[in-house]
Amino acid sequence: MKLLDAGSGYGYILRTFGPYCMLGAELVGLDREKKLLATAKRLATRQGLGHVARFAVGDVYDMPFKKNTFDVSVAHVVFCHLAEPEKALDELIRVTKSRGCIAVFDNAIGGGDSVGWNNFHKPTIREKLFNYEVVFRMIAGRKKLGQGDYQVGCYVPGWREQRGLKNVDVRSNERVHWIASPYRSPAQKTVYRNTRERIKEHKPGSDINKDVIKQMRTGGADEKTISKYRRLAGKRRR
Ligand SMILES: C[S@@+](CC[C@H](N)C(=O)[O-])C[C@H]1O[C@@H](n2cnc3c(N)ncnc32)[C@H](O)[C@@H]1O
Repeated sequence: MKLLDAGSGYGYILRTFGPYCMLGAELVGLDREKKLLATAKRLATRQGLGHVARFAVGDVYDMPFKKNTFDVSVAHVVFCHLAEPEKALDELIRVTKSRGCIAVFDNAIGGGDSVGWNNFHKPTIREKLFNYEVVFRMIAGRKKLGQGDYQVGCYVPGWREQRGLKNVDVRSNERVHWIASPYRSPAQKTVYRNTRERIKEHKPGSDINKDVIKQMRTGGADEKTISKYRRLAGKRRR
């Protein structure tokens, strides 16, 4: 059983599926960032997967693997960062066995709270509506800047069918619902706590916020919209 984690980052997918792969498994993580792979290797080893996992520096558009190599190929939150996701899909098809499985997990944002403040204060309906504008400006800007498409998940099933792949299965991710209020279940509480920790790093004025503002501007947002965003983004820390 050979599994590919394409665009593996720290190897989250490899570590998640690794323990379920049969004896004799080979797990391969590929990423263009060497530094991430060093951490991925350390984490996999710590989880007891050191002897079956290996990591390769490379580009998802042109992977250093022969055709028909993998039984399962996964790209988890990678396509939304790519300027040419269809090219990456073709490459996944090339390296995966013809009876193998290709799993693409990705964003299919149709609005909602991708910038995070809904979780941390009680937004008014106007603020919620404004959030949609921010999200769509950001998505438009990212696309223009060649940073990928946060709606890519909507297109992947069609691209698979166009390429004649069989058994195309489309599912939505339950976790999306986990992070919706009112945060009663233990799982929701954990997600809420972890998200809150991560958001602390995204202070207004930090680099990530600058990126969002650049994306919004490129996506056609005017200065009034941007200063409103700054004000509201500040609220999410409360
Ligand atoms: C959001 S991270 C997801 C990481 C991992 N799949 C996960 O779910 O934790 C996106 C990853 O894709 C990698 N990536 C982006 N473009 C790539 C490319 N053209 N070739 C290889 N890796 C790429 C990035 O370096 C990053 O590690």
